[in-house]
Amino acid sequence: MSASRSRGHAGVWLIGARGSVATTVVAGCAAVTSGLHPPTGMVTETALFTGCDLPELPSLVFGGHDTLDCPLPKRAEELAAGGVLPPGLPSAVAAELAAADREIVPGGPLPGDSRDERQLIDAFAADIRDFTARRAPAGTVVVNVASTEPAAGDSLPPSSLYAAAALQAGCPYVNFTPSTGLHHPALAAAAAQSGLPYAGRDGKTGQTLLRSVLGPMFAQRALAVRAWSGTNLLGGGDGAALADPAAAAAKNAGKERVLTDTLGTPVQGAVHIDDVPALGDWKTAWDHIAFDGFLGTRMILQTIWQGCDSALAAPLVLDLARLVLRARTAGLSGPLGDLGFYFKDPVGEGPAALGEQYAALARFADRLRGDAGGAGEGR
Ligand SMILES: NC(=O)c1ccc[n+]([C@@H]2O[C@H](COP(=O)([O-])OP(=O)(O)OC[C@H]3O[C@@H](n4cnc5c(N)ncnc54)[C@H](O)[C@@H]3O)[C@@H](O)[C@H]2O)c1
Repeated sequence: MSASRSRGHAGVWLIGARGSVATTVVAGCAAVTSGLHPPTGMVTETALFTGCDLPELPSLVFGGHDTLDCPLPKRAEELAAGGVLPPGLPSAVAAELAAADREIVPGGPLPGDSRDERQLIDAFAADIRDFTARRAPAGTVVVNVASTEPAAGDSLPPSSLYAAAALQAGCPYVNFTPSTGLHHPALAAAAAQSGLPYAGRDGKTGQTLLRSVLGPMFAQRALAVRAWSGTNLLGGGDGAALADPAAAAAKNAGKERVLTDTLGTPVQGAVHIDDVPALGDWKTAWDHIAFDGFLGTRMILQTIWQGCDSALAAPLVLDLARLVLRARTAGLSGPLGDLGFYFKDPVGEGPAALGEQYAALARFADRLRGDAGGAGEGR
């Protein structure tokens, strides 16, 4: 029996626990655990992480906060009807969905909420502590998969209230969204003093994933990129949230940053996100890249990515939950820059090209393996 299994259940506390990504995480973990589906898309299930003593998938228990009250089994049925989950999966994993549903508590701020910031943080932290004490003796990781917020002003946005609550409850933290989370200046000192590891921001699942591969290709072949423009068509809750230009601005900044970082210079072109409710969770991302070859010859590359957003995101959320839980037991703290492979706008230091990010992830796995062998070190 592995060390992680002998430590008992580990908790994954999802902020936005009734959303598409969260529901796919819970249903997907149960589907893989029971052998109904292979762990396609989960990097932690590849040979890269052999011997790293990650928490086993069957040891994960789920709970979280949401401001909606739609039961998780019903949410899963909706996703199956939309083709996001395989038909029949919600009934096959009904017990696991119901178990997670019982651990989802109201988040905030709710309409008419009179609690101030401190009271909200205390209440969220108490919820996370209670869950950990009852269900997760091996500790809990808090993962933000709630709706994207507009850029923060002076006061703490909800994502930062939850991030502060995670620190207060002694939990490592992952921000899978572009929202502020732990990035708020008011939380910097608490994050540094907490001794907890954290990772983010904004999962890299589609257009930006391609950009982090193609950007380095143009740079390495000494081709001159003149303009890189992109458009996304997306429905679902994420499409609706990103119809707000302020929320979309936070998302698009990460998509554009990867180009500046990999090409070494800003390029012309913008990214647009259009809400198309009829598409549901199915995203079409189109990129148009104008570049010059030898003697200034003008050329164009176009890419079309047609993905199911939650199916792309859920395995990464499971990977990140396992990696950050394991980082905590290995004594790692602070921003986990080695997990930049997973993010559009990574915290900490690290490369921007996917190939180099994969190499950094492999080095991270080596450190965990060293710790699993008793030779670990914190940082
Ligand atoms: N799917 C992907 O490929 C992908 C990639 C990167 C980032 N993300 C991000 O993941 C997040 C979730 O995406 P989704 O498709 O599941 O969206 P969704 O709209 O289906 O779910 C979001 C959930 O957050 C809840 N929520 C909103 N405000 C809250 C609050 N204050 N407290 C607690 N819960 C709250 C909503 O009620 C909803 O259930 C988004 O921010 C999205 O940008 C997704």
